[in-house]
Amino acid sequence: MEFSELRRGILNKLADGEFHSGTELSEALKVSRTAVWKQLNALQEFGIEFTAVTGKGYRLDRPIELLQQKVIKDALTEDARSLISAIFIHDQIHSTNAYLIEQSDHVTTSGMVCLAEYQTAGKGRRGRQWVSPFGNNVYLSVLWKYQSGPATISGISLAAGVAIIRVLKKFDVSGIGLKWPNDIYWNGRKLGGILVEVSGETEGPCTVVLGIGLNVFIPDKDAENIDQEWVDLTRITREKPPSRNILAASVLNELMTVLAKFDSDGINAYLNEWRSYDCLRGNCATVHIGSRQFSGVVEGINDNGMLLIRHDDGKIVPYASGEVSFNPVDIS
Ligand code: BTN
Repeated sequence: MEFSELRRGILNKLADGEFHSGTELSEALKVSRTAVWKQLNALQEFGIEFTAVTGKGYRLDRPIELLQQKVIKDALTEDARSLISAIFIHDQIHSTNAYLIEQSDHVTTSGMVCLAEYQTAGKGRRGRQWVSPFGNNVYLSVLWKYQSGPATISGISLAAGVAIIRVLKKFDVSGIGLKWPNDIYWNGRKLGGILVEVSGETEGPCTVVLGIGLNVFIPDKDAENIDQEWVDLTRITREKPPSRNILAASVLNELMTVLAKFDSDGINAYLNEWRSYDCLRGNCATVHIGSRQFSGVVEGINDNGMLLIRHDDGKIVPYASGEVSFNPVDIS
């Protein structure tokens, strides 16, 4: 869903974080000052806070870099551009993954991309909520269709994790790792996550919607709703996070080729790199599968991308699914 032209116009003006008077805004947008005021109030419903000062006007409490189709497209590589069929940017949406899943029956081509400023029902793994405040983070999903069945693309989320780490390294973000299966971690805190949703027949074809959430800035009031240790790029880089538009384009530059080649490359092409970013290996951890728990020392992943745990009896057991916590109590 898009904001009205008026609401977008006001937000575009205020995005710089400077003061803009009611008169300036109403003249620029050719509406009354009351209409401006109404829109400002409506923006508060999206968590966009502003200060009003007599004689100065309105100023956002924090500048916002709004997503811009042109800036993203200009920053794409030729390869990525050729693999993308369309880019949709929504001001507000339930979930970028859910949006593409809804589209998937009507589209025959791969490469549809959806980004949003705000998700009202952002989805995390295992039915969790993905906290998605307005204009601060990257919420991005890509739809890809494969001729083969889901078995051929097993491990695709691990490959996507590798793609994200490659991007973050280009932005000189250090200390980043992967927590099996595909959480992006920094010093024991979650920086981002990947949600892969697959539909189709066992023998194929199948459709993948791969969604990525990357924390660029989490306002304190939204952080209260996150039920695990988290971090964002603003805190890691001490107030100098990468541009969201360039970050989104860079993610697409890495991710599109991963998606396009995964049915032929398979997980093998990413295993060694994934292992080099593994932040669980050597740690004591617990795998939670439903109400059951299995603790031991993490020995890495096997060639199928399954988590290997060495239990007290010395046996190394592969796990295909489950939530992993660094200690037995905290399910992070
Ligand atoms: C996780 O739990 O680690 C996965 C989080 C995935 C969040 C992203 S944000 C963009 C896309 N749309 C969603 O609703 N979820 C994914």
